[in-house]
Amino acid sequence: MIFAIAMGMGLVEKRTPATSPSGSKVRTGLRARLFAWSLGHADHTQHRLYADRKRALFTQIEGRAGSAPVVVEIGAGTGLNAAFLPTGARWVVVEPNVHFHGRIREAAQAHGLTVDLRDGAAESLPVADGEADAVVSTLVLCSVADVSRSLAEARRVLRPGGRFVFVEHVAAPPGSLLRRVQRLVRQPWGWLADGCRPDQDTGRRLAEAGFADLQMDAFRVSGGVVAPHIAGVATR
Ligand SMILES: C[S@@+](CC[C@H](N)C(=O)[O-])C[C@H]1O[C@@H](n2cnc3c(N)ncnc32)[C@H](O)[C@@H]1O
Repeated sequence: MIFAIAMGMGLVEKRTPATSPSGSKVRTGLRARLFAWSLGHADHTQHRLYADRKRALFTQIEGRAGSAPVVVEIGAGTGLNAAFLPTGARWVVVEPNVHFHGRIREAAQAHGLTVDLRDGAAESLPVADGEADAVVSTLVLCSVADVSRSLAEARRVLRPGGRFVFVEHVAAPPGSLLRRVQRLVRQPWGWLADGCRPDQDTGRRLAEAGFADLQMDAFRVSGGVVAPHIAGVATR
């Protein structure tokens, strides 16, 4: 009953998201708006937790033969990673939640990037084979419907030698108490955090994704159920 009322008010999105004129899935509902609003207040915390690591990783993004790099970012959220990208980069953003798009355009302008917002999702990137010098994903693979497919897509759009740069929270080690807690809270957590899965085994999926090289560090932040993280660079 409560669920039905919430559906009626648009608080709960129907399972099938809206479709854009190009046919791809876009998210426009009140739940998407609420998530965009709440994440919009978290940039400062995120910079405190991840900025040093991102700064170090993002220096590995390079264009072809001295030209500005083409960087595809999946799930860019508020666009906070613009601060770490090389000035002049072409920033191709695939962000299904339209309530972030204004912030993303502002971030591009503030940091001297050319932004190209495209309809789509990580699982089916609207990007040509080999078009990207780098693909960036921060705190996104926990939320996608299919991690392996998203990684296969990242690999497809990278040029040979191109880099997949990631910072992600991940599942705790198998058999640990935290892993059990992550499984236990998965459903309510997903509802509150826009489909995020605290027990997503992204590290394993990355190791299986067929990149030529994978440099990956594990670290923890004081984030309770989402404390375990990985960060690194996978090279095609
Ligand atoms: C927790 S937010 C992280 C945003 C940003 N990357 C950051 O580091 O703050 C997850 C983002 O992934 C996006 N997202 C969810 N599912 C996606 C998908 N299948 N493809 C691309 N982006 C997706 C959400 O709209 C949201 O912007």
